This record gives sequence, structure tokens and C-alpha cells, in this order.
Amino acid sequence: MKDPDSTLHPLAADLNAKLGPVAEFLSATGKRMYFPYGGILGQGAEAKECALNATIGMAFEDDNTALVMDSFKKAINLDKKAYLYAGSFGLQNLREVWKGLQMQKNPSMAKVQYSLPIVTSALTHGLRVCAELFADPEDELVIPDLSWDNYELIFRDAVGCKIRKFNTFMRTGKFDAESLKTALQSKGDKKVLILNFPNNPTGYTPTEEDAKNIVAAVKTAVRKNKKVVVVLDDAYFGLVYEPGVHKESLFADFCKADDRIIAVKLDGTTKEDYAWGLRIGFASFGGKLFTEPEQFKAIEAKAAGNVRSSISNCSSLGQHIALNAYLDPQYQKQKDKKFAVLKRRYDMVRKIFKEHPEYTKVAFRPMPFNSGYFMCVKPIAVDPEAVRKLLIRKYSTGVIVLSGLVRISFSTVPTGKLRKLFDNLYRAICELQTA
Ligand SMILES: Cc1ncc(COP(=O)(O)O)c(C=O)c1O
Repeated sequence: MKDPDSTLHPLAADLNAKLGPVAEFLSATGKRMYFPYGGILGQGAEAKECALNATIGMAFEDDNTALVMDSFKKAINLDKKAYLYAGSFGLQNLREVWKGLQMQKNPSMAKVQYSLPIVTSALTHGLRVCAELFADPEDELVIPDLSWDNYELIFRDAVGCKIRKFNTFMRTGKFDAESLKTALQSKGDKKVLILNFPNNPTGYTPTEEDAKNIVAAVKTAVRKNKKVVVVLDDAYFGLVYEPGVHKESLFADFCKADDRIIAVKLDGTTKEDYAWGLRIGFASFGGKLFTEPEQFKAIEAKAAGNVRSSISNCSSLGQHIALNAYLDPQYQKQKDKKFAVLKRRYDMVRKIFKEHPEYTKVAFRPMPFNSGYFMCVKPIAVDPEAVRKLLIRKYSTGVIVLSGLVRISFSTVPTGKLRKLFDNLYRAICELQTA
């Protein structure tokens, strides 16, 4: 184990100082741990009372109620068996039904061999399982510079591996596959790469061409004698709003890419089925090195062993609710309706930008976006944090600041209020520019 102080986050150092002599009882992992009050969670809390709240990674209807499907809601009156243990691998029929749905949504996955999904307590837990199964202290987690901040808490602070970031976008707005390749080729034998599309925070999914470049970049990198575990964080799967954007998970591409690549697909009910608090996710494993059915069984047992050693098993109630929803004949129809709500919001954002060329000329540059719950803008010539603070104070509008960008969660703002949101953003930036 490397010296924990070398990577100690300031918030962890602060907690250790507050603990005083108690901190001496902590493990190296315990000493590195902290609660990320300052990031998305802290900023979200500051915006709690705002009239317009675009901070949250959930989705709301235009009337501000949670955007939830009836097929999930109605299942709450379940058979008594929903109170029995589900087992560390998860409910067998849920795993099979989910695999069937994955292949239906991703025809490319029907053409490759991969494990049965293991049930995780949603995607965060799936990431932690991956970190513990694949990342040693000398290994690097490779992530884009624009990515979800919890990756660092899990891989660096909880599990203790190193982080290497690559540039997300080129100046042209294309995904920077060259930068990804360079990061993977850095010193060290094994890398864990996380690819998250649609992306949090940018709301970006690769075009067909970008997708090919990404897979090619990883394939070239592994030829330099690297092992790469490619983790596809498909949390926002299916929420793609533009033609020409790659609609399927890249999981199947990596399953057949190279025998120096292991592919892991993390997905679940959280974002794509609008059931954030249900805490049901899945981890599926594949790769060219898996040639025998026993190998799939073995990796499933490794993952289930990890679940057993941490939380024993995931909520049986949650798994039964999800299973009931997937077997409900109305499920797909309801899902399409919810998709339409988010697509309407996305279209409205595009429309607002067309109607107001001054926004993007004078006040902010939108980052590439075409999918998901969010979009990001880069304020021109002013500090994004100052914009965020002014928006709360004067305009009762909550946004998130991440990696020098303002993230707007259009999934939470009623369509009819999006104009007001961007008008507030424009005014706040102009005010700071002339201050
Ligand atoms: C990119 C990404 N991955 C994973 C998650 C975690 O989702 P879950 O609630 O399923 O743990 C989030 C949640 O915000 C996310 O944005």
C-alpha cells in the first residue's frame, strides 16, 4: 500500500484533524475517506430553495412530481416472497430478463458471449465492485477530464489506485480519442478505463465516427502490452436525441476487441428507468479471453463474492419491483412516454439557443451535447463559480459547477421554465462581465 498521505484529499485531512487521536485507529483507507460535501451534493444543497433548480441528477414531470412509470409504482403490493433474501448474485429471473432486455436494446450484444448480469445496489455499487475486483494501488483509473466526480472517490480515495485524466473534447467538438490513447499508453501494465455515455456532466454521446475512433484508440493502446479493463458506465442508456449518434452500448465492441481487454457493462434502473431510489443495477462481464462457460460462472462468482463480503445481497423488494415492471406489458409504452418528456426539454434547449444567438455569442459556449439528463456551458470571461453564486442569490436559480463548466440538468426543469432558466443564466453572466 502506498503512502496514504500522498493522495490525501483536503476534506479527508480535515476530518482526520477533527478526529485527532481517533484518526490513529483508522486504516489507510479509513484515513483517505471523506464525504464530498463540496461537490455536486453541496452545491445541490445550496440550491434547495431555488425557484428553478437545475442541479439534480433525477427527472421531474412538468408539474414537478417525480417522473416515475406506473409499471414500477403499482408493483408495491408484492407477494410475500419479495421479503426473502434475493441472494448475492441477485434474483435469477431478474438477471435473465435484464440480459434479454440488454440484447433487445443492443442488437450487437446478442452477437457476443457475455456473463449473466450480477445484481448490484445500483451503479455506484457496481463501480465499487469493479474497483475492488480490478484496481490495485499501482494501477491507474483512466477517465475523461469531464466526468462524474464519484469515480475519484471510489477508485482513488476508497480503493487507493491512481487517476489519469485525458482530454474529453478536441477544439472541433469531437471526442478526443488521441488523448484517450495517450493516457492508456502511460507507464504501468494495467489500466481501468471508464467510458460513460450519455455522459455526466456534458450530456454527450459519441457520433458513429467518434465511437469507431474510441474503440480503435483502445485497441491500439493495448498493443503496447497493456491490459485494459473497459468499464462502460451506461447509467443514462437510451436517452439519445439526435440522429447520427451511436445508440448502442460500446460493450459488445469491447467484448470482441482484443484478448488484452476485459469489458464490464454497468447499467440499471436508476436513470434509464427513472427509479433512482430503487437501487437496482447490474454488472455484466465479457471479453475475448472468455472462451468457456465456466469462466463466466467464475467471474460472476467473484463479483457475487464481493457483494457477499460488503452488503450480503441487494434489496429483494427492489429486485421484485423491477422484475414486475419489466414483465408488465405497459412497460415499454410508459418508458417511451417518459423519454418523450426529456426529448421535449432537449428540443426546447436547442430552440432557445436558435432564438437567442446572443446567448452563445456573448455569454457562454455550450459544450457538445446530444443526449442524457444534462448539458454544460462554459461562461465567457467570468468565473463559473461566481455565476453559480449570483444565480442562487439574485435569480433563485440552481446550477452545478464542475470542471470549470456550468452543468444544467434539464431533466428537472419544466419545459415551460427553460426559457427563464437560460435568460437568468445570460443575465447573470452579462452582469458579471460588466462588473
Ligand atoms: C455517470 C453516472 N454513473 C453512475 C451514477 C450512479 O448511479 P446510481 O444511483 O445507480 O448509483 C451516476 C449518478 O449520478 C452517474 O451520473
